[in-house]
Amino acid sequence: MKAQPQPKAAIADRLAEARRRTYELIEPLDEAQLNRVYSPLLSPLAWDLGHIANFEELWLVQTVGEREPLHGELGRLYDAIENPRRSRNELPLLRDAELRSYLADVRERALEVLDEVDISPEAEDPLLRDGFVYELLIAHEQQHNETMLQLLQMVEDYELPDALSSVGHHSPGQAPGQLARRFEYPPVREMPHAPPTIRLPGGQYEIGAPATGFAYDNERSRHTVELAPFEIDSWPVTNREYAQFVAETGAEVPLYWEREGDGWIHTAMGRREPVATDQPVTHVSWHEADAFARWAGKRLPSEHEWEAAHPQLDAVGEVWEWTASDFLAYPGFEAFPYREYSEVFFGDEHKVLRGGSWATHRNLMRPSFRNWDLPQRRQIFSGFRCAKDAG
Ligand SMILES: [Fe+2]
Repeated sequence: MKAQPQPKAAIADRLAEARRRTYELIEPLDEAQLNRVYSPLLSPLAWDLGHIANFEELWLVQTVGEREPLHGELGRLYDAIENPRRSRNELPLLRDAELRSYLADVRERALEVLDEVDISPEAEDPLLRDGFVYELLIAHEQQHNETMLQLLQMVEDYELPDALSSVGHHSPGQAPGQLARRFEYPPVREMPHAPPTIRLPGGQYEIGAPATGFAYDNERSRHTVELAPFEIDSWPVTNREYAQFVAETGAEVPLYWEREGDGWIHTAMGRREPVATDQPVTHVSWHEADAFARWAGKRLPSEHEWEAAHPQLDAVGEVWEWTASDFLAYPGFEAFPYREYSEVFFGDEHKVLRGGSWATHRNLMRPSFRNWDLPQRRQIFSGFRCAKDAG
C-alpha cells in the first residue's frame, strides 16, 4: 500500500510542533544554563539549538531551496562529526538573541521554500518525493529533543513543562493514550515481578522497513531472516531485578543511582527519590546488560528477534533496549541521503538499541527503527530485556 502524500499544511504544522517542543524544553532555562557544559558526553544546549536550525538551513533552504546560507560558514560549527561534543563550547557558536533569531529566520525561509517545491509522489528529486526531506527534518529535531532531555536530567531543579504531555501531532495508527505518556518523568507503568516470556517458533521473519513510507536508509531493504525458536521476556528488566544483580555480583550501578542506607536513590534534575523498583532499569551500558543476561541464565535478544517479537512485547517505549546485534548494513543497503547518517557507523563498534524511551517522540517509534551507540554508553535512556534459545 502506498503512503498518502502529505499536504504541505500538515508538514508545516508538524515542523511547528517539533519547534514548539524544542522551545518548551528550554523555556525554564536561563542563557547561562543553555551555554553550560554539563557533561563531556553531551553538547551545551545552545549547540543543539544552533545545530537544529543549521541542519534545517542546509537541507530545507540551501539544498532543496537553492538559497545561499544566512551566515556564510556557520555550518562548520554545527557539523556533528567535525566537532566532538567535549569541544563544542569552545566554538564561536551563536548565543542568546542571535541564536533565537537564526532559528526563526531559517524557519521562515524553509516555509517559503516549502511553498515552492513539488513534494508529490511523482517528484523527480528523491529528497522531495513524498516529502522525504521534511520527514527527515521533523525526525531530526525530535531526536535532538531526546538528547536535550539526557542533559536536562543534570540541571538542578529543572521541571518538565506540563504542556509537553498534551500538545502534538497524532500519527495515524497511534492510540491517543500513547500521546499523553510522552515526557512523563519518571515512567509510571507498574511492572510485574516475574516477567512472563513469549515463545516464538523458528522460521522466516520479515525484517526492516517496507519500500514506501518514511524510514531511514539503515532500515532498508526489507528482507527475510531465518530465526531459530526463542523465548523473550515480555517486560524489560526492572530496577528490582537489577538491584539484586548488583547485590550479588558487585556490578556497576546505573547512572544516577546512589547508595542510601540499604537502598538506592535515583538522582535527577537535582531531586533525590528512592529508585522505583517495578520500573525498567535505565542508564545501563551494553556491557552491563549483557552481563545481567548471562547472570540470569539468558542472553540479549538479537535485533531481528526483537523486531519479530515486537507486536507481542509489553512496555515498548519505556526505555531503549540494547540488543546483542552490531550495527550492520541490511542486504541491499543504499546510503540516503548522505553516508554520514548511517553508513559511517556500520561495523562492530556500535550496538543496536530498539524501541524507544519515555523521552522519544512517538513519531519515531516504528518497529524497524534502529538506534545505535557505543557499548559503554549510559547517558542515553537505555535498558534491556532478556531472551534465550528455545528447544
Ligand atoms: Fe543532529
